[in-house]
Amino acid sequence: MSEAGSERKVGNPLWLLAELTYRCPLHCVYCSNPVDYTRYGAELSTDEWVRVLREARALGCAQLGFSGGEPLLRDDLEALVQEAHRLGYYTNLITSGVGLNERRIAALKAGGLDHIQLSFQDSTRELNDFLSHTRTFDLKYRMAQLIKAHGYPMVLNVVLHRQNIDHVEQILEMAEKLGAEYVELANTQYYGWAFVNRDHLLPSREQLERAEAATQRFREKVGDRMRIYFVVPDYYANRPKACMNGWGSVFVCVCPDGVVLPCHEARGLPGLTFPSVREASLQWIWYESPAFNRYRGEGWMKAPCRSCPERVKDFGGCRCQAYLLTGDPANADPVCDLSPYHRVVTEAVARAQRPTAAARPILFRDDRNARALSEAQAP
Ligand code: SF4
Ligand code: FES
Repeated sequence: MSEAGSERKVGNPLWLLAELTYRCPLHCVYCSNPVDYTRYGAELSTDEWVRVLREARALGCAQLGFSGGEPLLRDDLEALVQEAHRLGYYTNLITSGVGLNERRIAALKAGGLDHIQLSFQDSTRELNDFLSHTRTFDLKYRMAQLIKAHGYPMVLNVVLHRQNIDHVEQILEMAEKLGAEYVELANTQYYGWAFVNRDHLLPSREQLERAEAATQRFREKVGDRMRIYFVVPDYYANRPKACMNGWGSVFVCVCPDGVVLPCHEARGLPGLTFPSVREASLQWIWYESPAFNRYRGEGWMKAPCRSCPERVKDFGGCRCQAYLLTGDPANADPVCDLSPYHRVVTEAVARAQRPTAAARPILFRDDRNARALSEAQAP
């Protein structure tokens, strides 16, 4: 078994996530935006985004996701899609559907948008509207029909957690009714607002098993008509995910204010200064910046990862989860049962089996709560 130290050659990024804005009409309890999003500065202008798209394409990015917040709140989305298409990206709009209409979808289609991923919170109006703290269910339903009518494949994303996971069968029936070709049932990842609300969201093992069985039955019923992805919450695993396929390996995220990250959660990591596209080129940020080089390769790893044969497959898991759960991003992701901190995960899972124990009320993502959390985090 060899010790850590060998460095992987840095390849070019393939995946650009353009987080156009942190603004959002919805207030989802599991939002992955930073809990202190109100602290960050002005959004990039259209010209600045165009420069980012060109630089990232020149670096080698081929897949481009427009997300947020709600990317439809930017009225230059159509122009950015058009430029991205001209540059040769495969483009994906990740949206709640709020802000879409006949005129805009026609313009996005004409501009070359390849793919739309529409999110629902649940199959029932009551829970959809509760979890997003908005009356959006009926609108989303209409937007799903609009997307279909414009010839896009119907791609639905539903984030699963304790509050809605027992509705998996009804969610899949709704997807079938909407003519979905792809459904992503993505169990919540516990970062951002989902981490704050984890005691309300982490499902029990029994719920998870029932949902997986229901998904499997549905797959057998619909066959090839619908591809269904069921993403298990990693708290129930004993080895971590190879997060982002390794830090600074293929994925680059540009935040609304131009700060560049190797994953959408890294903003909160201590001791790192992530540069902005306003002050440096994407090329320098990707290849040269200390922040992007911090967790590349294996030299930063501690025991047990540094001598573990699995480090070449999972890169020690997720740096952001290691930080959130152990206080040190260089620790093994505590999802790993070889981590000395694994008990923090098993304790959260144990609490989820008796779900009356939440210490505080559920917090919706909104500016007031963001300011309060930001003040609570201030040194
Ligand atoms: Fe992965 Fe580290 Fe666990 Fe080994 S000890 S399986 S490298 S997280
Ligand atoms: Fe940041 Fe995994 S989300 S490294």
